[in-house]
Amino acid sequence: MTRYPRTLGVCYYPEHWSPSVWEDDARRMADLGLTWVRIGEFAWSRLEPSPGAFSFDWLDKAISVLHDAGLKVVLGTPTATPPRWMVDKMPDMLAADADGHVRKFGSRRHYCFSHEGYKAECARIVTVLAKRYGDTVDAWQTDNEYGCHDTTLSYSAAAKHAFQAWLARRYNDISVLNDAWGNVFWSMEYDAFDQIDLPNLTVTEANPAHAMAFRRFSSDQVVAFNRLQAEIIRTHSEAPIAHNYMGRITEFDHFDVGDDLEIASWDSYPLGFLEDRVGADDARQLAYARQGDPDFQAFHHDLYRAVGKGRLWIMEQQPGPVNWAPYNPEPLPGMVRLWTWEAFAHGAEAVCYFRWRQAPMAQEQMHAGLLRPDSVEAPAFGEAAKVANEISDAPVSETRQAEVALIFDYASEWAWTIQPHGHGLSYFRLVFETYQALRKLGLSVDVLPPRAELDDYKVILAPGLMIANPGLARALKESEAEVVLGPRFGARTPDMSTPVPLPPDFAGLDVRVARVESLRPGADMPLSGGGAVKGYREELEGTAEVVETTEGGAAVVMRSGNRTYVGGWLDQIAMKRLVSGICDTAGIETRELPHGVRMRQAGAELFFFNYGATPAQIDGTTLPPAGVLRRALTTS
Ligand code: GAL
Repeated sequence: MTRYPRTLGVCYYPEHWSPSVWEDDARRMADLGLTWVRIGEFAWSRLEPSPGAFSFDWLDKAISVLHDAGLKVVLGTPTATPPRWMVDKMPDMLAADADGHVRKFGSRRHYCFSHEGYKAECARIVTVLAKRYGDTVDAWQTDNEYGCHDTTLSYSAAAKHAFQAWLARRYNDISVLNDAWGNVFWSMEYDAFDQIDLPNLTVTEANPAHAMAFRRFSSDQVVAFNRLQAEIIRTHSEAPIAHNYMGRITEFDHFDVGDDLEIASWDSYPLGFLEDRVGADDARQLAYARQGDPDFQAFHHDLYRAVGKGRLWIMEQQPGPVNWAPYNPEPLPGMVRLWTWEAFAHGAEAVCYFRWRQAPMAQEQMHAGLLRPDSVEAPAFGEAAKVANEISDAPVSETRQAEVALIFDYASEWAWTIQPHGHGLSYFRLVFETYQALRKLGLSVDVLPPRAELDDYKVILAPGLMIANPGLARALKESEAEVVLGPRFGARTPDMSTPVPLPPDFAGLDVRVARVESLRPGADMPLSGGGAVKGYREELEGTAEVVETTEGGAAVVMRSGNRTYVGGWLDQIAMKRLVSGICDTAGIETRELPHGVRMRQAGAELFFFNYGATPAQIDGTTLPPAGVLRRALTTS
């Protein structure tokens, strides 16, 4: 069990405003009930206006103004925004996209994770900052949103050379690589590691093994980039280190980056995400346009609580319309408060609003803050004040292990991306739809990495786990929980070939995936118990008991002892039926929640959140739209 004080904060850019307003800003932040202020993460051009010429007076002053007002400071390293002079000095530090186009200066994240010269510059600025502020600041943030704006994969010359060296370390001998990748196919064999190019601009698709190696390499580059900064900071500071991850960015392994951090934080933009990355259909987009998807934030809270090994922050919380989604509505009154409480219910220690005052210049002028550009309070200000008041009566976030675990594995996400087998089939979406079904049944869920301890869970689900690492497969086989696997469990080796014996190759569960097919929209196959298989289906063989079939009699779900295999992508009706049956068997109570309502158990508290547009009834209490109901849990 973990317990953390619930705190609020804000993102602030002192360099955007005249120093004459800093004191007033700090006073208003403190009066609002905020604890944390994150600063500095894009300020490199003001910290080092020309190479080696530093200017720290303004930052010294800003930090002391904030501290004097009783606020705590999170200092971001400014490495997401290398200044113009640096790009002039090293033009080859820029990343290249998959078409080979160099990504230019003029916004942010314009660097390649593999450029040694840029990494040395980052080490230099981080060392200077860590030495100067190591004893002063209260927490650190490394860089800003690794991977945002499609910046993990780079096809630059620096990336190519680093990839070749990475391959040489991983495979050691070129013939080992040729065998592992199956390069005899289409005469793709190499004589030396330095012949291997990046897997872009090939005539048709590159070898999936090549593409997978590039994905693994690219993830390792992010991990190494972050580790470099974390190690430097740690030499000079005892303050905890966080990174602010971004929703549904999956091109690098967030758990691996998290190993080098004390805290995992993420940036939660519920309305922007519903518009540009949840993948909801039109009806759902409209129904939740001012609330956000009822499960998307919760999923990320649960994911990052695992990445942070129990320590979760929201470094940026949407306060009003954003500027970057296709449409940018105002949240329903009350939603900013709801999102904040929901984060606390999932174990967050801090929720920081982005940003203090709306910017009157540059790219984010259309992005709301707690204040308008004229410093008048925007609607979110009052909601933040309300939460600040409320947390004084409920000051602690408490988290206990859930009964249900859902495994999330980045390598499997890359495998699905490389070989989806059908348009739009995505690992993230499959795991997320499974999570949605669990949440609609009132279940609290722990999202776990593929290397987690699985003890004491009653139900463990591993949907879509294409790359089943041996440690996890062993732990699942040894588990006494209800274990639910498939589709595509262990469908590929780490080098993206098909294993024989055929998957899932799971002791004690005599099921084999004999063939697979993908189905276009509209070609769903109804199940005899209701609901359907959609998008992807497996032809199953074996002697395990058949518990679900298509109307045509094909096996879809098979089971033996405490192990269940799901041979297809189930729609929500079938998925809910499956998980509620499994929970029944495991002795876990489920509860059909009213439309749009979600529930979360947090220690001794039970929360209900109404994402719907109409009032909902919860055990005799009316929960209005955007309503939050918090109850002490009665244990029997
Ligand atoms: C985040 C980013 C912030 C700001 C914000 C706007 O992705 O970290 O710097 O751009 O989006 O919503």
